[in-house]
Amino acid sequence: MADGATEKKLILSGIQPTGTFTLGNYIGAVRNWGPLQDQYRCLYFIADQHAITVKIEPAELRKKTLEAYAQLLACGIDLEKSLVFVQSHVPTHSQLAWVLNCSTQFGELSRMTQFKDKSRKHPDDINAGLFDYPVLMAADILIYNADMVPVGVDQMQHLELARNIANRFNGRYGETFKVPEGYIPPVGAKVMSLQDPTKKMSKSDTNPNAVILILDDKDTIIRKFKRAVTDSDTEIAFREGKDGINNLLTIYSAVTGKSIDDAVKEFEGQGYGTFKLAVGEAVADHLAPVRDEYARLIQDKAYLKECYTKCAGEALKMSYRTLNKVYKKVGFVPTELR
Ligand code: TYM
Repeated sequence: MADGATEKKLILSGIQPTGTFTLGNYIGAVRNWGPLQDQYRCLYFIADQHAITVKIEPAELRKKTLEAYAQLLACGIDLEKSLVFVQSHVPTHSQLAWVLNCSTQFGELSRMTQFKDKSRKHPDDINAGLFDYPVLMAADILIYNADMVPVGVDQMQHLELARNIANRFNGRYGETFKVPEGYIPPVGAKVMSLQDPTKKMSKSDTNPNAVILILDDKDTIIRKFKRAVTDSDTEIAFREGKDGINNLLTIYSAVTGKSIDDAVKEFEGQGYGTFKLAVGEAVADHLAPVRDEYARLIQDKAYLKECYTKCAGEALKMSYRTLNKVYKKVGFVPTELR
């Protein structure tokens, strides 16, 4: 890491390895992580421990974790500037989570929207990990005293909980944790499904046409955009009630860097078919270098292993500072073992 990095503010974020990243993950979160690296000290990780809160085959999790790691690097995260690691390689996160559990109320976890949604989706497996998920997420953030957490809108409730837990712990045991801020991108903080634009685009959607994966090839991307659900109107405009078109304009703006207003002007008087094709092409062209870089990286398992091992070692060292402080504050007898 560059000289003076210790004075830089710290950014942290994570992503679950439950499937290939979606365009939602990319626009709402991951693609913003690269540009933050010059200004901030950045830590990014694959949240494999969060991934087992829903059923996933062990071999599949192993494979997807490696693939997610390579995808992060392909999306522009530079290991000269950032640490990129796998959550389960840094056991301090879950050690802190246990302590934070004791500063978290049953009631506040019960109110988490994602817990309620996932419980409805998997009624046969409402496990304690699913319920406790946001506390592990709070530990991920607080263990590094992160200043800022870049996420999409759907994670803001969890981030707010992390802030509450930090404040509560600080109030009880004295100043220990930094209270983190969220960082929501100005465009695309919630990318919607292409098939039901009132729902967020999600890795777990069972309809493949609803979701653009960042590794989809050009033809697939264009086909999915051509099938995108819009409305019975004919005007390309950004306004309430036009969820499908609003979503396509947002995506177009995010990948081209043009403002929504400029995008609306560009397509004035044109049909939905032409517009959808243009959005599809813009997305495919934007993602082409990511796909190429991923194809190169995923071949080199030895390189990936070297990277995640080294980064986890550094993250572990950093995180022990906070864990030791916390253990002392709550009254655990010190040991030379850490
Ligand atoms: P995950 O894996 O669901 O999503 C990763 C990131 O992508 C964002 N995102 C979206 N943004 C815009 N539109 C969408 N349709 C969309 N779908 C997903 C998410 O907001 C997220 O930023 N709990 C987290 C992982 C995590 C974490 C952390 C994040 C674990 N510990 C600590 C930050 C800090 C999750 O499941 O993200």
